[in-house]
Amino acid sequence: MESLTVCIHGVSGYTGAECVRWVLNHPRLTLTGATAQKAAGKPLAALWPRLGRTAVGQMVVQAGPVDADVHLLCLPHGQAVIHAPELRGMVVDLSGDHRLAEPVHSAAYGFARETPPWLYGLPELGVERYAGQTRVANPGCFASALALALLPAASRLPDVIYATGLTGSTGSGATPSEGTHHPMRDENLRPYKVLAHQHVPEVQRALAEAGGPACASVQFVPISAPIRRGILVSIPLPGAEIAQYKKFYAGNPLVTVSDQPPDLLSVTGTPLTQVSVVRPRDGNGDHAVVFSVIDNLGRGAASQAIANVNLMMGWPVDLGLGAFGALV
Ligand SMILES: NC(=O)c1ccc[n+]([C@@H]2O[C@H](COP(=O)([O-])OP(=O)(O)OC[C@H]3O[C@@H](n4cnc5c(N)ncnc54)[C@H](OP(=O)(O)O)[C@@H]3O)[C@@H](O)[C@H]2O)c1
Repeated sequence: MESLTVCIHGVSGYTGAECVRWVLNHPRLTLTGATAQKAAGKPLAALWPRLGRTAVGQMVVQAGPVDADVHLLCLPHGQAVIHAPELRGMVVDLSGDHRLAEPVHSAAYGFARETPPWLYGLPELGVERYAGQTRVANPGCFASALALALLPAASRLPDVIYATGLTGSTGSGATPSEGTHHPMRDENLRPYKVLAHQHVPEVQRALAEAGGPACASVQFVPISAPIRRGILVSIPLPGAEIAQYKKFYAGNPLVTVSDQPPDLLSVTGTPLTQVSVVRPRDGNGDHAVVFSVIDNLGRGAASQAIANVNLMMGWPVDLGLGAFGALV
């Protein structure tokens, strides 16, 4: 059985920690290296105490990359693009550095990137795209939730799509800021980056790759919610049909489809997505609302990165993504 070594870059951050969890859970991946900046020199267990009694907890975090078959880049925007060129083997970038073509990338992230964008790592856009690939841009968390809600209807979307999304505090990373400080987040709801979120161009890229309108107008209102993990997106989508969604996601082990509104707790801590198509109770008219819920650190980051490694290797997309931890 083929087995791969893995180095996680940015292991002291939230997506890095979640990658540790899923790599340890994977039957064909072995964690052999971990990097960070300020945390370099510390054992993993000093960063993540739950690893205290495990062998991997004694692994010392390095300042620079460790040679490995797979590199998972859990670094801030602007850092992955610096580190990636020196890496051999497979690379999955969880940052936004390789998702978009110029000049869209510069407009979204405020700095230019010379190299072309990498394969966009949303498995539902087609597993055949992964053949021979060694570089994958992992989709953003909101972009994943939005795209999964829209892809089944890509060929018949309205000219303008209005979407709202709530997200948990882990989405902002491990370094506190004024807006992410506990008293500001707890018992609070706060829209931010209204109609200006950097993930919108990714959704447009995904829709275009799925045969949708080349320039779908996605008007998106993100809202920070007083929860730690999870994203709930809702999109009024006249004409959306549950049958169309069930057909699109048939056989997909990581997405469930329902005609009932979703529940965030059914996906947090898991690699799963629940997509719901809810119509008026009387069944009249064309009205429908599509919801999707994901874990921002799971399908929005780490478990999707593992799925991308699986697909580059030709393994089942959900290999190693089966144990969910706590059920409530
Ligand atoms: N959080 C989410 O839900 C989420 C979801 C999808 C995608 N993402 C993206 O994934 C990336 C990581 O997010 P995160 O939330 O895990 O961030 P984070 O918690 O802030 O962690 C960032 C990590 O990068 C390391 N780092 C910072 N500057 C570095 C440098 N110059 N060189 C090397 N390492 C450096 C940090 O190490 P030290 O702490 O030791 O300095 C830390 O381990 C970001 O690009 C983010 O946008 C995040």
